[in-house]
Amino acid sequence: MSDSSRTLDDLRTFIKSSAGVDSQQRMKFYDSWAETYEQDVQMINVRAPNLGVDFLNGNFSGNREEVQVLDVACGTGLVAKLMVELGFKHFVGVDGSQGMLDQAAKTGLYKELKLALLGTEPLPAQTGTFDVVIITGALDSGFAPVSVVRELCNAAKPGGFVCMSRGDHSGTAASEYKKDLERELQLMEEEGLWSPAGLNQTDRYMEDPHLSSERVKELPAEERYISGTVYLYKKSIHSN
Ligand SMILES: C[S@@+](CC[C@H](N)C(=O)[O-])C[C@H]1O[C@@H](n2cnc3c(N)ncnc32)[C@H](O)[C@@H]1O
Repeated sequence: MSDSSRTLDDLRTFIKSSAGVDSQQRMKFYDSWAETYEQDVQMINVRAPNLGVDFLNGNFSGNREEVQVLDVACGTGLVAKLMVELGFKHFVGVDGSQGMLDQAAKTGLYKELKLALLGTEPLPAQTGTFDVVIITGALDSGFAPVSVVRELCNAAKPGGFVCMSRGDHSGTAASEYKKDLERELQLMEEEGLWSPAGLNQTDRYMEDPHLSSERVKELPAEERYISGTVYLYKKSIHSN
């Protein structure tokens, strides 16, 4: 769909239509959303890229102009657009939706854009290559599976950062995903692969797209939001 005059109600209905789809269907969903994605997400105040980028930036002390950034599930390129404003220059993007990658290409910010369905195909990145690996808005049930987190760590250089921003969507699958994710993050810490470099919890990750329009009208603005977390890890210097 490339309807630039979508209303908030239309958008909520559109997003709900993707609930419970498998990963192949989800990529088709994003292909169909790509053209209007950026203007649509503004309507529901999606803050995933801003939260991830700001938290990373506040904890980063390297030379921004030199570092190599891998933007995983890059979508239309919102992360690179924010990071370039902060002085970062070198980006490689990966996404499972060709439609989203086509939009990312239009930014002119990525030196490479790679198509890969994470969880089914390996992350297309060499071991120990990136100073920063970032993923925003794609660690969830029906998106990138928890197993991808090890691949993110693998792609980082020893001493490099892995930054992950995600929202607490409602439902059993989403809460199971969060538990599994946090167990995996902890396990990787115990294995000496990385150590935590920061955690940022927010009450305002994005407006809940699954609320009915009636409920939205009843709720004060601040209660329409779902919470979220940014996890920041530093890869062990002894790891690969
Ligand atoms: C909510 S968007 C976030 C995009 C971007 N990171 C941002 O914050 O603006 C989720 C993105 O993840 C991608 N995605 C979801 N599951 C994926 C998977 N298993 N493999 C590759 N990409 C995936 C979608 O194609 C989409 O571009």
